[in-house]
Amino acid sequence: MPKVAIIGAGPCGISQLCAFASAAAKGAEIPELACYEKQGGFGGLWNYTWRTGADEFGEPMHCSMYRYLWSNGPKECLEFADYTFEEHFGKAIASYPPRAVLADYLRGRVEKAGAQKYMRFHHAVRDVRYSEERGRFRVTAHDVKNNKISAEDFDFVVVATGHFSVPNTPHFKGFETFNGRLLHAHDFRDALEFKGKDILIIGTSYSAEDIGSQCHKYGAKSVTCSHRTAPMGFHWPDTWKEVPLLTKVEGRTAFFKDGSKKDVDAIILCTGYLHHFPFLPDELRLQTANRLWPLNLYKGVFWEDNPKLMYLGMQDQFYTFTMFDAQAWYARDYMLGKIKLPPLAEMRAHSAKWRAREEKLADDEQMIWFQGDNVRELLSETDYPDYDVEGVNKTFMEWEHHKHEDIMGYRNNAYRSLVTGNMQPVHHTPWLEAMDDSMESYLKSG
Ligand SMILES: Cc1cc2nc3c(=O)[nH]c(=O)nc-3n(C[C@H](O)[C@H](O)[C@H](O)COP(=O)(O)OP(=O)(O)OC[C@H]3O[C@@H](n4cnc5c(N)ncnc54)[C@H](O)[C@@H]3O)c2cc1C
Ligand SMILES: NC(=O)c1ccc[n+]([C@@H]2O[C@H](COP(=O)([O-])OP(=O)(O)OC[C@H]3O[C@@H](n4cnc5c(N)ncnc54)[C@H](OP(=O)(O)O)[C@@H]3O)[C@@H](O)[C@H]2O)c1
Repeated sequence: MPKVAIIGAGPCGISQLCAFASAAAKGAEIPELACYEKQGGFGGLWNYTWRTGADEFGEPMHCSMYRYLWSNGPKECLEFADYTFEEHFGKAIASYPPRAVLADYLRGRVEKAGAQKYMRFHHAVRDVRYSEERGRFRVTAHDVKNNKISAEDFDFVVVATGHFSVPNTPHFKGFETFNGRLLHAHDFRDALEFKGKDILIIGTSYSAEDIGSQCHKYGAKSVTCSHRTAPMGFHWPDTWKEVPLLTKVEGRTAFFKDGSKKDVDAIILCTGYLHHFPFLPDELRLQTANRLWPLNLYKGVFWEDNPKLMYLGMQDQFYTFTMFDAQAWYARDYMLGKIKLPPLAEMRAHSAKWRAREEKLADDEQMIWFQGDNVRELLSETDYPDYDVEGVNKTFMEWEHHKHEDIMGYRNNAYRSLVTGNMQPVHHTPWLEAMDDSMESYLKSG
């Protein structure tokens, strides 16, 4: 019986376990599975904690989520084809759930699949080595709770450790003497801290957009958003300003490339994250920026030089949970021997074609169709239940449109489930007025 190590029990690790559980339910003999997870529970980034820095065992905190975080895309675009929101909650629910609601949805799927029995919590993987001689990987893990290190051999390794946890922290002149609060989005926890404050955000992607919006919602006096490449260009509230890149900070004054300046109380670096795999040697380690088609991963999953090593979810993400499923189902069928991979040269040529297409993508809409095509290609070779990729793409288009119409109100829209076909209800309270992000409040109807 082959053995599979899955590193990480976030959404990707969960998808991999559910893929195997689904095969087992259909009578397949599945490998021996061990899912190493350094946190005390599953859910990955969706596990909220107040902690920043290190956890109680000295491990770097994985969590980059914060209080009042609501999904920034419609849940209809991440709904599992084999486990719907309606099945989980017993009714249709509004389209942009807060973090706790999505975490609960993941919990339900894990429980339904019986996936928890494979998880080894508080186990941080420290090292993965491949032995050509034995044709196996040796995985060394630290049981941080019992402070014991042990090693075990596996035939396959699936890296599902995420890539939005280790902050990218550029330095700007004067940071070391800035007199206000200076932090990265990874350590942002509660927007109320910035009530009545003038805040400066560096970056223009989802963290910048969402953390700035949170701070506005919870009473920040002003939001100044500094861009390196281009402004976000949404219809922001009057207290919001987009400025070119920060050049330096003196005291509490921030100076920008166009010669303008602004006194600020806090600077939040929304400058993204690093793909960081300290447990992997050079020859197995993915090295990439956050983009839609990282190189050296056949079909976005298989480490081309040694496909017995797989990576899940390493792309920049429009598609999330269902892309993870598509990758996990495909990886499962490879590990079960149902899917054969082509020779190295063919894998490389295939990846180069996707990369060339990725490099020509001009806007978000094209990026969404690109990622949808990848998901469709993966699913077409597996027994994943029918999944309406085109419908999901079109829902993403509506989402984009709604954001450009009203960035503070786009979450008040509702969409049709692509799995059940049912229209989902509009949330009872407009997002800007909904201060309570608890599951109980969200699930109240009317
Ligand atoms: C602030 C924020 C908000 C987001 N909001 C949304 C959203 O609204 N909708 C959406 O669809 N997506 C959102 N995402 C995207 C997010 O990437 C995915 O939803 C999802 O969490 C990715 O799953 P993952 O399993 O790849 O990684 P993660 O969720 O990061 O899980 C990785 C797991 O691996 C574990 N791990 C890491 N290293 C080790 C190790 N060495 N040994 C053992 N275990 C290890 C971690 O503890 C963690 O549990 C958001 C991301 C961020 C940062
Ligand atoms: N509510 C939510 O659901 C929510 C909230 C937050 C985040 N997220 C998710 O979190 C993930 C990560 O998003 P992210 O925004 O943190 O990362 P990201 O998408 O990788 O964006 C990084 C940003 O940092 C900027 N940047 C990087 N280095 C810089 C530098 N040296 N100087 C100035 N700017 C720099 C980039 O600018 P350039 O454009 O110039 O490269 C870009 O705007 C996404 O999947 C997102 O969906 C979700």
